[in-house]
Order: sequence, then C-alpha cells, then structure tokens
Amino acid sequence: MRITRNPADSLKFKVPSLRNVMLSFPYFHDGRTRDIFDVFEHYNARVVNGPTTDPLVRNKIPLSNFEKGQLWAFLNTLTDQAFISNPGLAQP
Ligand code: HEM
Repeated sequence: MRITRNPADSLKFKVPSLRNVMLSFPYFHDGRTRDIFDVFEHYNARVVNGPTTDPLVRNKIPLSNFEKGQLWAFLNTLTDQAFISNPGLAQP
C-alpha cells in the first residue's frame, strides 16, 4: 500500500521468487520457519484467511505426504549452482 498508495493493497505481500528457495530460509515475511516441510504444512492446513488472502490459497492446498516429498524434490531443482558460486555476486 505504501508503494501503490491504494488502500486496497493494505496487507498484501509480494509472491516471492522460489529461485534458490532451499537456501533462502527462514521463510515468509516474518521468517517464522526454517523448515520447508513447515511451509508445505502451512498451505496444507494452517492458512488463516483475511480480506486480502489470495483465492488460490483460501481453501488451503491439500498435500499428501507423497506430494510433499515430490514438492521437496522439485524445489531442490530450483537451486542455481552457477548463481550461488559466482564470485561476482558474493557479499564482500
Ligand atoms: C504448494 C504450493 C506452494 C508452495 C510450495 C509455496 C511455497 C512458498 C514458499 C517456500 C514461500 C516462502 C518464500 C520466502 O520466504 O522467500 C512462499 C511464500 C509466499 N507464497 Fe507460496 N507456495 C505455494 C503456493 C502459493 C499460492 C497458490 C499463492 C497465492 C498466489 C502463494 C503466495 C505466496 C505469498 C504471497 C508468499 C509470501 C508470504 C509471506 O512473505 O509471508 N503461494 N510460498
């Protein structure tokens, strides 16, 4: 809202990139967990709806243990070795 000056954007969060997500914990705007399986459990069971909650997550995203394992494997493919080992992008 501070950026758009539109009160309708209050409490909306940017959907973050998942590039290198296995390395970018802690997760969510308040860093509430370091565990990606906790993130899956958030979508599976802990979504608390507010006025700005996206319709895609309002009814939660039911995930079986097998699907959580598949998601874990998929998210690992988003680790960009060239990016994380590029000295030009390293912190001084
Ligand atoms: C099972 C499917 C999903 C997975 C595995 C997933 C994964 C994640 C992860 C790992 C984060 C934390 C990223 C970080 O802190 O850097 C995140 C945050 C977020 N995701 Fe998802 N996501 C899923 C579905 C969705 C959907 C459908 C939406 C709605 C469009 C959504 C919207 C968001 C938003 C707004 C955040 C930021 C929340 C905050 O910072 O508190 N996600 N997601």
